Amino acid sequence: MSLLIKNGTVVNEDRIFSADILVMDGIIQDIGSYITEPEGIRVLDATDRLVIPGGIDPHTHLQLPFMGEIAVDDFYTGTRAALSGGTTMIIDFVIPPKDSTPLESYKQWRSWADPKVCCDYALSMAITSWNSNVIKEMELMTQAEYGINSFKFFLAYSGMFMVRDEEFYQGLQHCSKLGALARVHAENGPVIAVKSQELLAKGITGPEGHILSRPEEVCSLKIMKLLRQNKLNMFIQLEAEATNRACILASQANCPLYVVHVMSKGAARAIAYHREKGAIVFGEPIAASLATDGSHYYNRDWLHAARYVMSPPLSRDSSTPNALMDLLAAGELHLTGTDNCTFNCQQKSIGRHDFTKIPNGVNGLEDRMSVVWEKGVHSGKIDPMRFVQITRLKILFSSTAAKIFNIYPKKGRIAVGSDADIVIWNPNSSKIISKDSHHQAVDYNIFEGMEVHGVAETTISKGKVVWENNRLSVKAGSGQFVPLAPFSPYVFATIPQRTKMTAPRAVSREPTPPI
Ligand code: URP
Ligand code: ZN
Ligand code: ZN
Repeated sequence: MSLLIKNGTVVNEDRIFSADILVMDGIIQDIGSYITEPEGIRVLDATDRLVIPGGIDPHTHLQLPFMGEIAVDDFYTGTRAALSGGTTMIIDFVIPPKDSTPLESYKQWRSWADPKVCCDYALSMAITSWNSNVIKEMELMTQAEYGINSFKFFLAYSGMFMVRDEEFYQGLQHCSKLGALARVHAENGPVIAVKSQELLAKGITGPEGHILSRPEEVCSLKIMKLLRQNKLNMFIQLEAEATNRACILASQANCPLYVVHVMSKGAARAIAYHREKGAIVFGEPIAASLATDGSHYYNRDWLHAARYVMSPPLSRDSSTPNALMDLLAAGELHLTGTDNCTFNCQQKSIGRHDFTKIPNGVNGLEDRMSVVWEKGVHSGKIDPMRFVQITRLKILFSSTAAKIFNIYPKKGRIAVGSDADIVIWNPNSSKIISKDSHHQAVDYNIFEGMEVHGVAETTISKGKVVWENNRLSVKAGSGQFVPLAPFSPYVFATIPQRTKMTAPRAVSREPTPPI
């Protein structure tokens, strides 16, 4: 399909300008003022609209088998919903169960995703056990044929996905060698397991137990002030402790690190602290942590509270969402994702008598772009160019994500030669988010009732109009797998030199005389 998008305001990460855009064969062919209409071409009028690169969500779990259930949004419903919200690419996680191998699970995920995806997708791989075969298959996964350039390590979910610190450290070293980005779920699995049992023994079985098993300590005003002045290297909460630990281990292994789902100020502060010291670390808050807080866990309606159960939990501190958005605006956090992993009400109810059995995960894939726009741009914290940067790869419109995952400028930019993944964004339109109108399969929405100003009016995926006039027009399997190459320059540029400079050297000594 050929398209001419006329009279729009194009927004890239570095520039806003008025232009027409010509799209043919799924690629942007021309950008300029007053492009004349080729005969018979479809024209889309973007007057008073922004024309932005499609969003990239770098963190999804579609149809994930997890905690005895399978996430209800699959690669069809999930990617359809994504397109209706302006996201045109996702990066989903292959998570091998303990009895599987990376290669087997990779094939499993491809066989689930390929026939169903409605937008382009890539894969990141979780490392859930550590042995010589995993080491070998990690290398295989980074070959062009498989297209994986990031590996995720869970420091939580004891007995399921978690790796121990020494395994994590060796994994980081291997990632560094392979030019693959290490991603981390930063929590303290063993401590959470002990605390959860203590709470259950005290009769605390409801969703509040989920957040109580990962408490945020209240700090005095004096300490808060010192923290703000960056004079105190202290992270007083389990997510922050694990984030700090992960940053230290990554630096020791000379490996770039990407912290997924940053949920608390403490974790964000740990990232900022290590970046200040020169560490290559990226932080990804998610739609949920930017727009909701942990007060929901204390709701008297059990089901309401259970819908928000995810790990790490939403912060009990109601100023956290705003603070995380401020950090995105300031460049201390770098892109947004969703961690979309949806279980419906009946599935959540499995944990009615034991909060540790509530399947963990929330929605966000459909609403991320509008939520980030609302909290970031509509609120006046970030300008539309920054919005593109923080949302493109998963951050809504995703130039940063595209750079981190080495697919820029194919994705994440409106440029000649780039994929025609384009959104016509109406900053003056608004909507109320609701499960009754959303396109996801899950039967609730954690943003229910939230008004968002700024909506994806038209979504174009690889040159095809897939969302317009509030209607989807998609075909299962029309999306393509996008292989990701290792050694992203945005992430790895300094690593070889750092490896050389920090290589351990033995002290040269005279031969030791016999004693
Ligand atoms: O609660 C969550 N976050 N569920 C999805 C799995 C994960 O930890 O990313
Ligand atoms: Zn996680
Ligand atoms: Zn996740």
